[in-house]
Amino acid sequence: MMTAERIVIQGTDAPLRGQVAISGSKNAALPIMAASLLSEDPLNLNNVPDLNDTRVMVDLLRDLGVQLVLAEPQEGEIALSLTSPQTTLNPEVPIEAARKMRASVIVLGPLLARMGRATVPLPGGCPIGARPLDVHEDVLVALGATITYHNHAIHAYCEEGLKGATHRLRVPSVGATENGMMAAVLAKGTSVFHNVAREPEIVDLAHCLNAMGADIQGAGTDTMIIHGVPRLHGATHTIIPDRIEAMTYLIAAALTRGDITLTGANKDHMQGEINCLHAMGFDVQAVNGKTLLLNAAGAQPKPAHLVTAPYPGFPTDIQAQMMVLMTSIAGESRITETIFENRFQHVAPLNAMGAHITQQGETCTIQGGFPLRGADVEATDLRASSSLVLAGLVAQGTTTVGGLHHLYRGYVHLPEKLRACGAKVARLP
Ligand code: UD1
Repeated sequence: MMTAERIVIQGTDAPLRGQVAISGSKNAALPIMAASLLSEDPLNLNNVPDLNDTRVMVDLLRDLGVQLVLAEPQEGEIALSLTSPQTTLNPEVPIEAARKMRASVIVLGPLLARMGRATVPLPGGCPIGARPLDVHEDVLVALGATITYHNHAIHAYCEEGLKGATHRLRVPSVGATENGMMAAVLAKGTSVFHNVAREPEIVDLAHCLNAMGADIQGAGTDTMIIHGVPRLHGATHTIIPDRIEAMTYLIAAALTRGDITLTGANKDHMQGEINCLHAMGFDVQAVNGKTLLLNAAGAQPKPAHLVTAPYPGFPTDIQAQMMVLMTSIAGESRITETIFENRFQHVAPLNAMGAHITQQGETCTIQGGFPLRGADVEATDLRASSSLVLAGLVAQGTTTVGGLHHLYRGYVHLPEKLRACGAKVARLP
């Protein structure tokens, strides 16, 4: 949903100070919501973040015939009960839903497994790269599906039913791993998938599917073994915390040399990123596994060189926010982006704000220590949007950020959460 709203940020020298409650993970919630297509019984989900993307998935599942009860236990959070009776299910995703969100492709695997066919119009989402679907296609073909493309849609069908198979993914794609898992859980026989994605969101999906009666072993490693079962039953599952959101606030605190406490986070999902912050001179303390503290007062930050990579490597989804932090650290930092070929769209607006960033191919060099100044900038993708808001926090004067439909796809109440820590951030209708 496009919005003309802008966020206005008054840059200050004041450090962010306060507490932020971390929401449920968008990237875990979306495939887990799609997993409801695999069973006739209710799948009850807690801690689903209330975001544009999860609302799009709610509408999409309704369009597919899923019966859905939605509650709002607290601001920014939804609880869902999803039931997919065979009689009401329809295997064709409407074009409007698919255009709104690239992750809509995640219903392909479960629909195919449950109904023997599925049609998903070619997806929309962030314009951060070509994002082909060959890895999704290959894993489903290995399980016995036929895939065709026509009328700008991907069609999958399997008359004989899916059969377990051994397959190596060309790259450890998160979405393709999820589609493969959700197809293989109801396939006949055993599947062994090599070179799968290992992200915490994959492990969360496996936990949910296993709670529904699936038999998945090895989630979180690069090989997954899935023994197909004839049917899945209902379950209740709580979505893991959003590690990308949590890192965004830790970076905001480091950037403003502030003192922040995150509640409801999971340190184990962010150990690599926390180590990177440590190497740059910012210590993150864990009170228990769920409460994280970053106090940057007196920090003596150092530049760094980060390379994005599939988990447990440095997440591409935190690259833009990290780049803003690097602009505040004297010396030369570098970021190499290996996942998406067009994910440096935040560089131009950051340079318009006074940053000194040059891009050469997949590497950006950041000459840090030059003060940023406020400007009117446009967000071009989800994580770029939060990076521009962070830049506004430390820029001299006023920054306004547009293109907020990207921000609201993935961050629950970002202006409000920053404001609670003393930032001067407001929504301008
Ligand atoms: C997911 C996340 C996204 C994150 C990304 C990488 C969700 C909803 N989104 O996206 O936030 O940035 O992982 O961590 O979970 N690729 C192919 N062919 C395919 C599939 C992927 O070449 O069939 C390529 C992509 O173009 C990209 C790389 O593989 O270069 C990784 O993409 P993938 O892991 O599939 O990302 P998504 O699942 O789309």
